[in-house]
Amino acid sequence: MIRVNKTMLLFCSFILTIPATMALAIEAKSGYEYIEPETRATQDDDFTNPGLFAVDRGQRLFNNKQNSANKACADCHSEDGTKLDTKNIARYPVYSEDSAEIITLQKKISRCRNNNAGDKALPADHPDLIDLETFVRNLAIGEVVNVQTDGAMTKLIKQGKALYNTRYGLIDMSCSHCHDMYVGRMIRGQKISQGQGNGFPTYRLEPEEITSLHQRIQQCMTSMRAEPFETDSNEIKLMGLYIMSRSNGLKIEAPAVRY
Ligand code: HEC
Ligand code: HEC
Repeated sequence: MIRVNKTMLLFCSFILTIPATMALAIEAKSGYEYIEPETRATQDDDFTNPGLFAVDRGQRLFNNKQNSANKACADCHSEDGTKLDTKNIARYPVYSEDSAEIITLQKKISRCRNNNAGDKALPADHPDLIDLETFVRNLAIGEVVNVQTDGAMTKLIKQGKALYNTRYGLIDMSCSHCHDMYVGRMIRGQKISQGQGNGFPTYRLEPEEITSLHQRIQQCMTSMRAEPFETDSNEIKLMGLYIMSRSNGLKIEAPAVRY
């Protein structure tokens, strides 16, 4: 039996009130431009931005040798990661020629953690990995997202775009419907943004937690009443890559604050 709840009805009435033809978004704009002024103020102030807890926790994980590790990240990348190249951080996800795959920043950190620091492997999107990712990404705040779009990436981004344009779930909409066509419209009290990735990991005020880009994709799929892509699946990596390529040119804001 299909459970029609309030959210779904809201989604459906929303679709009906939107004209079919609307201009597509062209210039990339950060989600920051679509949130309430109070939320912006919360993000901008290090004392009120709740995402800074994840940064602090990530910093502790980075600077100190963990129980099962041989080394701390800081042993190789210096205290507080000052030797990490922020321009390189802004390039993630990258393509690895060696393993012929997309490597997200979190995956790179996770592999460095296992192979170089000698720590026990953790599953993708484990809270420790998200905190480390938030800390590392925050080092590059203000750098411009600069994901490779040529070479091997061209085909992968195209595949990600096809997933983005596919209709999912009971509401039978694609990501593009909301984040390209209905940008700026209100839904459930939220102004729809372009669904950019430059603020991730992001602190979400509603579930009250730090959220990776891949988790946010899954959350949007759940609200579409669709089966979300599996954590660490090929689909979610392709979708994440496409989103980050759309964010090229936007400044890194991690951790952004959003609803
Ligand atoms: C034994 C030394 C060592 C340790 C410990 C180590 N790393 Fe690394 N890390 C490296 C080296 C060498 C590279 C560059 C080569 C590569 O890309 O693998 C690197 C690359 C990286 C990069 C990519 C930087 C870029 O320019 O693309 C990140 C991010 C990173 N490490 C994070 C971490 C984190 C977080 C930890 C702790 C959980 C950690 N590393 C532990 C040696 C180390
Ligand atoms: C029915 C409309 C709708 C659909 C369809 C939809 N989203 Fe969203 N999405 C939202 C709303 C509303 C938000 C919260 C406000 C905002 O940031 O746009 C959001 C937020 C996001 C964000 C966070 C943006 C930021 O700046 O923090 C991402 C990323 C995202 N969506 C990706 C997706 C992906 C990927 C899909 C397809 C699987 C999708 N969305 C489908 C409505 C939608």
